Amino acid sequence: MTAIRNIVILTGAGISAESGLATFRAEDGLWEDHRVEDVATPEAFARDPALVQRFYDLRRAAVLAAEPNPAHAALARLDREWTGELLIVTQNIDDLHERAGAARVLHMHGEALSAWCTACNTRHRWTASLSGDPPCPACGSPALRPDIVWFGEMPYEMDRIFAALADADLFVSIGTSGAVYPAAGFVQAARDAGAATLELNLDRSLGSRLFDETRLGPASVLVPDWVAGVLRR
Ligand code: OAD
Ligand code: ZN
Repeated sequence: MTAIRNIVILTGAGISAESGLATFRAEDGLWEDHRVEDVATPEAFARDPALVQRFYDLRRAAVLAAEPNPAHAALARLDREWTGELLIVTQNIDDLHERAGAARVLHMHGEALSAWCTACNTRHRWTASLSGDPPCPACGSPALRPDIVWFGEMPYEMDRIFAALADADLFVSIGTSGAVYPAAGFVQAARDAGAATLELNLDRSLGSRLFDETRLGPASVLVPDWVAGVLRR
């Protein structure tokens, strides 16, 4: 095997499932109880901002109540001990990677604990409710929205992500169903760059055949095992 120096990791809701946060596409997932078009699009926010704010108020409260699990801790260990390049791209809006101690994390779909002022284009750490149109701490406008990338909006930092993928030696996908682009296309971009590809998931993702290797099981077991192996190498 060629030496691995640059690792890109993509995480999804499955890595936080064992922390008690609901995934999206499971039978008891968030998209079973809510229609995406009602709560996770700019059109929904324009039509019924109160409903959208309530939905993300609940997400924010759930994130604050959750704790990192051994999978987050293992990636934080990798971040501390891996001397090569590493980028943890997460689709998750929780802060469990950071609370476990990981630093090289990029939130491509935004963050539950951030509010974005559409009047002055500033972002603010936010742990309270956004219902009732609280004023922006910077400009005072009642123009705060969840700092979440909704369907139809461009995910954050795509240039940085694709640059990392172009240099990757290893791409690892953890706990994501592969249903949402552009994230679902990262495995192909990594392959095009000549990277090895590994999937760690409870069930096979939609793009499973694109991975060189798939390991099926709970993230709290698979991720610590994989990290221990990489650091031993
Ligand atoms: P999904 O709910 O689509 O997929 C979660 C994946 O995690 C599934 O493949 C499960 O098999 C797997 N899984 C569940 N429990 C697990 C466990 N304990 N260990 C390992 N894997 C487990 O969630 P995402 O793929 O993250 O976007 O969804 C992608 C995006 O769709 C989200 O970021 C969100 C959503 O709409 C936005 O809201 C913009
Ligand atoms: Zn403002």
